[in-house]
Amino acid sequence: METTVQSPAKTETPASDENRYRISIDLLNDAIGREIATTLQYMYFHARFEDARYRHLSRIMREVAIAEMRHTEAFSDRIFFLEGDVNMNAAFQSRQMSDTAEMLQFAMQLEQSTVDFYNEASRIAAEYKDAVTHKMFQDIIVEEENHLDTFRTELQNLRDYGENYLALQSVAGSKHAAIDLQRARKGKETEE
Ligand SMILES: [Fe+2]
Ligand SMILES: [Fe+2]
Repeated sequence: METTVQSPAKTETPASDENRYRISIDLLNDAIGREIATTLQYMYFHARFEDARYRHLSRIMREVAIAEMRHTEAFSDRIFFLEGDVNMNAAFQSRQMSDTAEMLQFAMQLEQSTVDFYNEASRIAAEYKDAVTHKMFQDIIVEEENHLDTFRTELQNLRDYGENYLALQSVAGSKHAAIDLQRARKGKETEE
């Protein structure tokens, strides 16, 4: 994935009719493209893990996908505040994969590349005297690093405990399912 961010040329002064926050707006739109693509990728992982009954991983992917969607929302609000327009499109297509370790590794790559991009975007926003966008990127980097840490921990667990780790999640899932079933049955009995 492309991670480099080019610094825009500093010498040109914007024409009077041009939005002076053009650079910030472009950075924010690039960020939105990443966030949307990442949301979709994690929703795919969520559905895959749900299908495999890996409850724990499935829940993590759902939570992180929603967190990324909130980032899209925050960046969009900022763009409209700066009187720009939002480009609500994914930066890349979701990948299909089925190996759990490979999925976690890919998720880690996405987070790392996002952290790199936001660090650079934050620096450029400061350079162009947009303190709020600068801080917004900095704040969101903290969350992206937490996501990275979560995926790294899960991958480490998988490496340490192997297939047992995944099997245990299924068992835990079916235990919950059994309890839910029992509750549903009891509810029916009392109704009758
Ligand atoms: Fe994000
Ligand atoms: Fe993230």
